[in-house]
Amino acid sequence: MIQATLHQLRVFEATARNGSFTKAAEELMIRQPTVSSQVKQLTQAIGLPLFEQMGKQLYLTQAGEELLATCQEIFDRLDHLEMKVADLKGMRQGRLRLAVVTTAKYFIPRILGQFCQEYPDIDIALQVTNHRKLTQRMRNNLDDLYILSQPPEDVDLVAQPFLENPLVLVARRDHPWAKRRSIPITELNDQPFIMRELGSGTRQAVQDLLNRCKVKVKVRLELGSNEAIKQAIAGGLGISILSKHSLSPVELKSEYTLLNVQHLPIQRRWYAVYLSGKQLSVIADAFLHYLLEMPSEEGMIA
Ligand code: PGA
Repeated sequence: MIQATLHQLRVFEATARNGSFTKAAEELMIRQPTVSSQVKQLTQAIGLPLFEQMGKQLYLTQAGEELLATCQEIFDRLDHLEMKVADLKGMRQGRLRLAVVTTAKYFIPRILGQFCQEYPDIDIALQVTNHRKLTQRMRNNLDDLYILSQPPEDVDLVAQPFLENPLVLVARRDHPWAKRRSIPITELNDQPFIMRELGSGTRQAVQDLLNRCKVKVKVRLELGSNEAIKQAIAGGLGISILSKHSLSPVELKSEYTLLNVQHLPIQRRWYAVYLSGKQLSVIADAFLHYLLEMPSEEGMIA
């Protein structure tokens, strides 16, 4: 019988998923030598190497692959048990694991706050990341629910729309086009533009529109955060297309203006998503229904 602790299995799973001891240590909030020693003890217990190291990157051996699949089964079963126990106790408590794309961070915490008034004893893990990283989390089955605007087509999902997510063209308040109406989109040709990073869902939607309209903007700056883009616009570095939810009504009145360019806003929606076949915990199911039953006016989250 292999002697391994649950902690060692968790450390191994995080190391395998991240391909790195350092990243696993960051994720688990423990020290890197602890990760290495836990993996070493587990390797001794299994009796075969679990990883091969090439440069800084770790690769799983065949034994490692087998162990990873077993770990994932064990953790799934444990989650399931936790959920059943919460059900049996009839208690409104447990952990809600939520992962959202960057723009959703402007409204999801507020909705969570309202939700927690009804479920004060729940424990929430909220991950905020870009579209590409979020879909990786989905493929690894790391969370209960995901919030994003473009559910991937190659993952078997249940996706339910709940709110509009317009992408608008944002400029500094004193932009020379501020008072113009119905500006042809071709005028964006060669405009200094601030773009989100590769892997961003916003960037993909913007690029699709520009390609469709055969417009080539001059990308002056590429930034990995909506907040940084807002600062760059305010600093006069260019214009950008962002989710309207990333701007507060006060910011819209004082610092920025939305340019009236044809084909904008890009109309998108927010989706609450979970993996098909995933058995949602009582609390995840309650939060999903809370989202879906929310009034859909923008005012709710502006
Ligand atoms: P992003 O995604 O944060 O990766 O740009 C936003 C979205 O999918 O709407």
